[in-house]
Amino acid sequence: MLEKIGVIGGGMIGGVLCQEIPRRQLARKLALVDIMPPDMAKGKCLDIAEGSPVALFDAQIAAGKTYDVLEGAELVINTAGVPRKPKPDGSLPSREELLSVNLKITDQVAEGINKYCPKAVVISIANPLDAIVYRLQQKLSLPRGKLMGMAGVLDSARYSYFVAEAAGVSVENVQALVLGGHGDTMVPIRSACRVAGLPAEQFLDEATLSAIEDRTRKAGGEVVKLLGTGSAFVSPAWSALDMAEAIIFDKKKIMAVSALLAGEYGVNDLFVGVPGLLGRGGVEKVIEISLTTDERAALDRSIAAVRKTCEEVDTVSA
Ligand code: APR
Repeated sequence: MLEKIGVIGGGMIGGVLCQEIPRRQLARKLALVDIMPPDMAKGKCLDIAEGSPVALFDAQIAAGKTYDVLEGAELVINTAGVPRKPKPDGSLPSREELLSVNLKITDQVAEGINKYCPKAVVISIANPLDAIVYRLQQKLSLPRGKLMGMAGVLDSARYSYFVAEAAGVSVENVQALVLGGHGDTMVPIRSACRVAGLPAEQFLDEATLSAIEDRTRKAGGEVVKLLGTGSAFVSPAWSALDMAEAIIFDKKKIMAVSALLAGEYGVNDLFVGVPGLLGRGGVEKVIEISLTTDERAALDRSIAAVRKTCEEVDTVSA
């Protein structure tokens, strides 16, 4: 158990995090910051605290519109951002417009972390994932491994779920891995997909696996379309909590994580989804696995897409 965990952004994902952190007893204290007036963060946390006698946990929760509530947090989960929604004239903002809005928010997030909890391990969930983590690192200059993005755990969970469903087996029987950037170019790694320890191909045919991998790449959009407003929030929150637990309990668990690369997979100074060993120090090691020629080529294409977005980030000044 940690002394204090901070959550930035108390919307849909942040709300699930604030329910689960005390319920799972991950920290003695929880802090939530969200700029939404009149004081949404405080309201949300009061609601959770008032439910604690029923759910049977002791909650010490601080919440507010300013970042001082994060003072001394050892672990921070960042969800602050705005989703893509129509402008008053009905048109959608361009990717560049959205990126520039979210980078401004990210700069505020970084300022808050720098001021109140500069030693925290940081897990970032806000989108566009790879660009936001890259920007955070520019502003925070954290030791490598202490800053990471949550995407691969979720994408891998989606791949696992679809395989389990198609094979008619428990999700507990399936191991799946998705690498690369968190977008259309992500790479489901078929050669690492196992059902009860056996290659997935022994359970599902080529066409089914291909369809599942395609669905995995588009899974976020599938949920967005069904919800009508907003994006997936339960599975992203649970995925970030899985990473948080690996860190808090020093599990040394290998998980797909957007990690800062220093030569691994031939990449320098970019955050890309790779297998990482998570423990108390954050991403303690990046694991280089062997891939098929096709998987390696797909990963290279995905890395190129991440690099392009990060070049855009470099053009947006603070
Ligand atoms: N500081 C703190 N909180 C902020 C800031 C800021 N500068 N700017 C915005 N927020 C808050 C918003 O007020 C909102 O409550 O961030 C919250 C984001 O919540 P939602 O809009 O409900 O978004 P959510 O579904 O939780 O997703 C959060 O994760 O998966 C990604 O694409 C998703 O980028 C999005 C993020």
